[in-house]
Amino acid sequence: MAYNLLKGKKGIIFGALDEKSIAWKVAQRAQEEGATFTLTNTLSSIRFGGIEDLAKNCNTIVIPADATSIPDLENLIDKSMEFLGGKVDFILHSIGMSLNVRKKRVYNDLDYNYLNKTLDISAISFHKLLQVAHKKDAINDWGSVLALSYIAAQRTLFGYNDMADAKALLESIARSFGYIYGREKKIRINTISQSPTPTTAGSGIKDLVGLMDFTERMSPLGNATADECADYSIMMFSDFTRKVTMQNLFHDGGFSSMGMSQKAMHQYEKGIDCKC
Ligand SMILES: NC(=O)c1ccc[n+]([C@@H]2O[C@H](COP(=O)([O-])OP(=O)(O)OC[C@H]3O[C@@H](n4cnc5c(N)ncnc54)[C@H](O)[C@@H]3O)[C@@H](O)[C@H]2O)c1
Repeated sequence: MAYNLLKGKKGIIFGALDEKSIAWKVAQRAQEEGATFTLTNTLSSIRFGGIEDLAKNCNTIVIPADATSIPDLENLIDKSMEFLGGKVDFILHSIGMSLNVRKKRVYNDLDYNYLNKTLDISAISFHKLLQVAHKKDAINDWGSVLALSYIAAQRTLFGYNDMADAKALLESIARSFGYIYGREKKIRINTISQSPTPTTAGSGIKDLVGLMDFTERMSPLGNATADECADYSIMMFSDFTRKVTMQNLFHDGGFSSMGMSQKAMHQYEKGIDCKC
């Protein structure tokens, strides 16, 4: 159901690769709620994903940008403002990638060139985006910027590897820039910490199926889906959350506040002799 929550609002959405992507669902919901926006991703993801189809359905354009490149980000902001006819009201940063995870380098044997890439793509790109937007004064007063995070920023989860460090940095950038943007322009900056979700990036998480089963059993409300994450993002872009800023917002069915649940305990009792 649509409520016109984003009627008249303009935005930029990073990270829609295919229809499983969280950003893809956010784009669909943003359109239903009356927003206009541009879409962006890397050239290779545009080639191999389905973002052009999404753009067609959303009556918009795709502007290629590597989120680690300042010239690409400058071009993206300029072209977006040109296409949308002015400043934007919301931006979604939905980007994550670790070469250490992809190349199966474990946390106590990291390749440091890969680590730099992980941090640049998954966290520092958020700073770069905010800095470029700030210099170009590209976001309207009372705008809203969101990035997607994961609970591995606060708690150690086996196998999440250097992405845990990237998410901790990402959340810190949201707070630090949130202060500046809030003070100067009443613009809010938050991260949503999402449940494990079966997407391309999600499949990089060690044993995603087992992890999702565990978090489902542990969360009183169950795992949050990509569609539900899109609903939450729309609320965060709407005028109903104008005083929420510098927060890491858990969207995980309650998982982050749990220690042990009845469902997990039942499952655990079946395999209590595990020595791992
Ligand atoms: N899937 C999960 O379990 C989960 C859980 C919590 C948080 N998240 C976060 O949600 C966000 C979106 O991931 P997703 O699960 O929708 O997966 P996804 O694979 O669909 O999206 C990741 C996107 O990052 C883009 N990307 C990678 N490098 C880039 C670069 N240099 N410049 C611009 N874009 C680049 C990819 O092209 C892709 O579109 C990520 O930040 C991810 O860490 C995912």
